[in-house]
Parts: sequence; structure tokens; C-alpha cells
Amino acid sequence: MLPSRFTKFSHIISVLLRNDVIVPNQGIFIESIETKPNNEIDLVGKVISSFNAAKQVQNKMPKPYLPSGGWEKFLNNEWQKNYYDATSQKNVTTMAALLRNFFRNEAISGIWGNEKMFNRFCHLSKLEALFKSNLIKSHYVVWKNTFPTVPLKELEAPKFGNPWGYRFDNTLLYEPVFEYNFHAHYFDNLLHNLQNPVVVEIGGGFGGLAYQLLCCRSSIKYIGFDLPENILIQTYYLSCTFPNAKILTYSGDSVPLTSELLEHYDIVLLPNFELPQLESSIADIIINIRSLSEMSKETIIEYFNQIDRIGRLFFYHENIYKPRSDGLFGIPSTDFPALNNFVLASASETRWPKYQSDSGYPCQENLFIHRNVLR
Ligand SMILES: C[S@@+](CC[C@H](N)C(=O)[O-])C[C@H]1O[C@@H](n2cnc3c(N)ncnc32)[C@H](O)[C@@H]1O
Repeated sequence: MLPSRFTKFSHIISVLLRNDVIVPNQGIFIESIETKPNNEIDLVGKVISSFNAAKQVQNKMPKPYLPSGGWEKFLNNEWQKNYYDATSQKNVTTMAALLRNFFRNEAISGIWGNEKMFNRFCHLSKLEALFKSNLIKSHYVVWKNTFPTVPLKELEAPKFGNPWGYRFDNTLLYEPVFEYNFHAHYFDNLLHNLQNPVVVEIGGGFGGLAYQLLCCRSSIKYIGFDLPENILIQTYYLSCTFPNAKILTYSGDSVPLTSELLEHYDIVLLPNFELPQLESSIADIIINIRSLSEMSKETIIEYFNQIDRIGRLFFYHENIYKPRSDGLFGIPSTDFPALNNFVLASASETRWPKYQSDSGYPCQENLFIHRNVLR
């Protein structure tokens, strides 16, 4: 345990020492900024009924579409009672209060860390605080070196969900925002020549990357598929942050997701089992970040078949490439099935120190290009 932590720590320090980027003044941000969205009652009513509609049919879905791998256990142990009670009782008041604080309760568990993330962050030992502070600085350095002209203000956390994290020059940043902003610009560059690119993300967590992507380019059509629990959070977050967006959510009817239907919406957020409804060859890019590896082999195989079917230009995934050293469930990308329609164009160790080879969650970045493009 100690040697690997020590290696990690010295690696982070070496990233910091090697750079000539000036890191802004930094502190932690844990004070409450609880914010009520304008249309709270309607919005919360909508996310509850959409969630209940999905849960009503979920157990009739084929096995690969059920929560699997690490997530089955995680949702039972972590997501737990408060959210499930509020949704099953259709209790809008309780749910509204939970969602106004989702970054600080169980809803955020499993997204970029383990359980009770906010609580842990508030009670770090001096050594842990130093480690975290250096880690976030090293991510800043990687981000700044890649996109030196992007202003820090772009990364500021909207207040919805009561975020916490770091203050960099008076800008509130949640921990994974450097990755989200980097990916948003990276994908935007890949899709540069397209007017209304269709972006499909599987396993988008609370919607952090979707938020950065849509800020980067509002003409993107974003389609998110995730387990009903996290689609609920994404729907809340993206509805609050883009109050004028037309968002398609699940209502219990399974409808074909055709280009014509998509013309009526800016954002589509659906439970994972609706993925087969998506028109073939519609996705300009399919994205999966720190997510496929957390699913069962059966689910990964099914999703790869779907990716082959719906993809048109790119598939990008960033997942573990060797077993996790924290002992938690994870299927390395070396065990993922082959894709028929995509060719691996580039693969390298992740640029983010938190997920590099000496970490508990060693990731690789993988960009695939559709065979049609190469023809
Ligand atoms: C570690 S989180 C990563 C979230 C996000 N990509 C990020 O980087 O912040 C894993 C995500 O995969 C989703 N997920 C897990 N099992 C899934 C499944 N069978 N189908 C779709 N999404 C799934 C989770 O709900 C969660 O959103």
C-alpha cells in the first residue's frame, strides 16, 4: 500500500516540478451554495415519473441491460433508501431537497470516487489534503498545457446540486472538471466540420462532460444512455443548467430514436435499455469514460455490438487497461471484444495523473475510427 501511494505522490510532484505553468491560488470549497432551480416542482415531478416509468419495466429487460459488474452491488448498498423512497412515494418535496444537494449525498457516490465523497473531503487528514491538493494542481497543469488559451472561468461549477471542491482564483471547480473540459474541446475539435454533430455518451455520470460539451458547442445533439439512477441525476442537472433546452426523457413508451425525432430535441436522456431504439449509423461519436470496465462482460459485449451498429465516425473510450489495484470490480480493456466496424487509431496511457499506471484505477485513452472513414 505504502510504496504505491508513495510512487503516486512522487509522480504527481514530478508533474508539478516539471512544468512552467503558474498554478493559480488554490483552496478548498465546502461551504453550502444550495440553489433552487426556477421550475423546481415541475422538474422534480418530471424526473420522478420518468425514473418510475423506467424502473417499472427495467426487470423485464434482457440481462445485459440490467445493472451489472460493480454497479449492481453499488446501487443496492450506496444509492439506497433516500432516493428510492422519495421516488416510490412520489415525494416531490423530499426529492427536491435531495437533488438540490446531490453533489453532497449518495447520488454522487461512484462517479469519481467511492462512497460518501463529500464527507470524506470535509475531514481529510493533513497528509490526504496535501495529496489531493497536489493531485488537483497536477490536473490543472495537464489541462493548461493542452489548452493554454481556454479561460479558467469555463470550468466554473454551476451552483445546481450544491457542488464542492476547489477554489482556483475564486472559481469553484469540482474535481473532475479538467477532464470534462479537456474532453469537451477534444471532441469538439474532432467534430469540427459537422454542423449538428450527434454525440452519444454511455455512462455519463451526473452530466459533467455533457455540460462542458454543450457549453463548448450548443449545436451538438447530445444523447445520454445510463442506468435509470444516473439518468435521473443527469436530467436534473442538464435541465437546471440549460433551462431552455428541449430534453427528451423516458415516459414508458419505447419509441424509435430516428433522425427525424431527434430534430425536435437538443438533448436526449434515456435509460440504457433504450439504446437498441437508436437509429443505425447515427452517432458521429460514441463516448465512454471510466464506465464500461465497471460493467459485466455480457453488458460490454452487447454495448460493443450496439456501438458497431450506431457508430458513424468515432468511438472514444477511456477505461482501465489492467486490473484495478484497489481490489474493486473492473474488466480491463484488454478483455473487451473486438469491434467489426471500427479501427483503433490511437491508444495511450491516460494523461490524468489520478488514473495513471501506478494508481488504483489505471486507465488508457482509446480513439477508434469507423472503417467507412478510412475507405
Ligand atoms: C465511474 S462512473 C463515470 C461517470 C462519468 N463517465 C464520469 O467520468 O464522470 C460510471 C458510469 O457508468 C454508468 N453505468 C454503469 N453501468 C452501466 C450500464 N450497464 N449501462 C450504462 N451505464 C452504466 C454509471 O451509472 C455511471 O454513470
